[in-house]
Amino acid sequence: PRVAVVFGGRSSEHGVSVVTAGAVLRAIDRSKYDVLPIGITREGRWALTSDDPERMAITDRKVPDVADLADSPEGGVVLPVDPASREVVYNEPGSVSKALGDVDVVFPVLHGPYGEDGTIQGLLDLSGTPYVGCGVLSSAVGQDKEYMKRIFTSFGLKVGPYLVVRPREWERDQEGARRRIAEFVGEQGWPLFIKPARAGSSIGITKVESFEGLDEAMETARAHDPKVIVEAAIAGREIECGVLEFEDGPRASVPAEIPPVQAHDFYDFEAKYIDSAAGIVPAPLTPEQTAEVQRLAVAAFDAVSCEGIVRADFFLDEDGEFVINEINTLPGFTPISMYPRMWQESGVSYPELVDLLLQAALR
Ligand code: DAL
Ligand code: MG
Repeated sequence: PRVAVVFGGRSSEHGVSVVTAGAVLRAIDRSKYDVLPIGITREGRWALTSDDPERMAITDRKVPDVADLADSPEGGVVLPVDPASREVVYNEPGSVSKALGDVDVVFPVLHGPYGEDGTIQGLLDLSGTPYVGCGVLSSAVGQDKEYMKRIFTSFGLKVGPYLVVRPREWERDQEGARRRIAEFVGEQGWPLFIKPARAGSSIGITKVESFEGLDEAMETARAHDPKVIVEAAIAGREIECGVLEFEDGPRASVPAEIPPVQAHDFYDFEAKYIDSAAGIVPAPLTPEQTAEVQRLAVAAFDAVSCEGIVRADFFLDEDGEFVINEINTLPGFTPISMYPRMWQESGVSYPELVDLLLQAALR
């Protein structure tokens, strides 16, 4: 089969996506699959790129960029719109078109908005092209920290205290929004985490300790998404669990623990990717706790109608209860990332994982 690996994109997680794609491209069995590497630039252009994983890694504390991998970043790929042919067309600069052949399956290795949020999934549905992972609804819900929590709550999963500041409220009634936040602090105390509702990899998130930092944190979040979510800190341990769909249904991996990150305020972007803060796999939990978090991870997968893949992130709070923080429908997949490490520990190697995902999409 022919697989188009699509990566990069307009999201602030562009660089992380390129690193993930490098690892996926390295792992795909070339004797079984024919690979078409397609990068999306930060401006949204689609381009054929190198598929050399060496060029797609983090070097000198800098994340890679599609523009440096594409021979012709001005070019554009038109994804298949004709379900009968599924043909991919590449427009050279100057608009000479060349057909790149038919694609059997797309692996959207995209994190964040315009990729992990249902947009490309919709495009692929329109063209009848199979793709790896979650569909439109689960991708959209999994990208939006507000709706994700609302769905979890309705399915009986425990979520932490939060409030949402909608774009119109902040634009027209900042005083009102600050009053609501002050009431929330009265109940929950400091610190708060101020987050863009739709983003990832901790980008745009600020930990705020007092009212002094609030406005700046709001603007930082709003630069990524005009809808902002304000979360109370949850005292407890950070536990993650992978879910992968096998032929007989979804199964949970062994869980992992993210220990408090030294020299970082929280598990932020630098800690995650630049300093490669290491999680502990498997998490040192009792057998009962492990079984419980695995059950909840699959429940979260089902609550949002996920397909293929999800990483569910929890806190184990001081009452010994698992509070779900979020799911990621395309979790980081770099070789040091938690998702592949949890599956490795569960007996599924990285190349097997990639193959299972492609096989599930082709079924
Ligand atoms: N959004 C990043 C890639 C993650 O959750 O792993
Ligand atoms: Mg996360």
